[in-house]
Amino acid sequence: MNAKQRRRADFFSSDLNGDTMSELIKKMNKALGLELRAINLYAHYAAYVKGLHRLQLEPMFQQEATESMVHAATIRNAIVKHGGICVTERDDMEIKHTNNYRDMLQGALETEEKAAETYGDLLKMLDDISDRELYDAVEQIYLAELRSVEEIRMLLE
Ligand SMILES: [Fe+2]
Ligand SMILES: [Fe+2]
Repeated sequence: MNAKQRRRADFFSSDLNGDTMSELIKKMNKALGLELRAINLYAHYAAYVKGLHRLQLEPMFQQEATESMVHAATIRNAIVKHGGICVTERDDMEIKHTNNYRDMLQGALETEEKAAETYGDLLKMLDDISDRELYDAVEQIYLAELRSVEEIRMLLE
């Protein structure tokens, strides 16, 4: 087995059982539902953003939708790997329809803050798991959510 294959084997080996695992799966499903919601929210706002702001915000919303899809795929694979069942419905937090770009950004900010909070909780739960590859993957996502929070906060100033 070469180094790459070994990393892959580590990634696909599970070392948690019982309650800890089901709590972990629950939290990962919460994150997955939020990503599925974020995909919808950003795709919706990308379609509706109008005026000069469209020049910057349409590509940004598209990019956030794509990023959410990548995050969703990472978390989905982790749930499958650890024997869980992935949610297929988005988180039910409301997506407000609006034509106002500041309201869109406000919705985006709340979305990113919720994501950062959820991945922060998930990271704490992963602290003593031997699956370091999962820890690193979640940490990367967490940092990306924090960057989005800061970016959107500045756009709203
Ligand atoms: Fe995300
Ligand atoms: Fe995000």
